[in-house]
Amino acid sequence: MEMHNFICGLPKAELHLHIEGSLEPEMMFALAQRNGVTLPYASVEAVRAAYNFSDLQSFLDLYYAGAAVLQTEQDFYDLTAAYVQRARADNVCHAELFFDPQTHTERGVPMATVFAGIARALRDAREQHGFSSRMILCFLRHLSEEEALATLEAALPLREAYADLWIGVGLDSGEVGNPPEKFSRVFAKAREFGLHAVAHAGEEGPPPYVWGALDALKAERIDHGVRSEEDPELMRRLASDNVPLTVCPLSNLKLRVVKDLREHNLARLLRAGLCVTINSDDPAYFGGYMNNNFLATAEALQLSREELVQIAGNGFVASFASDQQKQAWLSELHEYVSAH
Ligand code: ADE
Ligand code: ZN
Repeated sequence: MEMHNFICGLPKAELHLHIEGSLEPEMMFALAQRNGVTLPYASVEAVRAAYNFSDLQSFLDLYYAGAAVLQTEQDFYDLTAAYVQRARADNVCHAELFFDPQTHTERGVPMATVFAGIARALRDAREQHGFSSRMILCFLRHLSEEEALATLEAALPLREAYADLWIGVGLDSGEVGNPPEKFSRVFAKAREFGLHAVAHAGEEGPPPYVWGALDALKAERIDHGVRSEEDPELMRRLASDNVPLTVCPLSNLKLRVVKDLREHNLARLLRAGLCVTINSDDPAYFGGYMNNNFLATAEALQLSREELVQIAGNGFVASFASDQQKQAWLSELHEYVSAH
């Protein structure tokens, strides 16, 4: 079978996806109109033309501005339903979605509205299509730990109502200058409530940020983590503890973490024995959902069929699903590989 079709058909899990980053310009315009929000762009084309980023912060400025069109439960539903449709088209059967409540609560949108809209779309997708998913609440690291604690306090009363979906906390936004240690207490509290912990680290920040995510936050997965390669001791730790990295190749390209995809270290990280996964991060902003990330990376790094199967399998292994569910997905993956 031709490699392109083989990659597209692989069953996949997506573990690093900001739901606000799946807001396509068409929907941004439609929601702006529905909610009477004025956008600083004349057209959908003008929005896309503005997506020319120099670094993480230049992206975050547009990303937070775009999220301002999200106001009602139905907006969050529509956003999430559109993502699920794109993910299913790429043969994603399980997704763990990040969401940033602080981006919305600071504009007066209630926490409960954000949860309700995302969850209703995910439950509909489960019922209608068997699409599996979870939600991971991310704290914005450019804000204070007190604000993160207040966010956790506001979300905890919703825990029971969303026990089937909300399974963890994460840490995102501008990395450099906001080390993981700043959030030690809020992560400790989240873990006390049985929530999983993940954190963005080693995207733009140096290896000590990855150490901090592991040791201060007890992160079970590292989001990005590509700069870990600069520290051999850290590489040994990630390998021996089997800590997965949720790598986002097209994001790294667009935010100029790498100049050219051919220079991306994903293959080296994989060949060093790390549990590397491929993910889309903010697909509406970075030019591609899961299949585009897999295809572009496979071509740029000349990944073998076996390596691509390994990466797809790592997505299931690194997920927060039950062991039984993971085994079922891995069997499905191996059946696909045998049949193609
Ligand atoms: N928020 C959305 N995408 C992000 C990224 N790639 N890094 C940090 N924060 C983010
Ligand atoms: Zn991210």
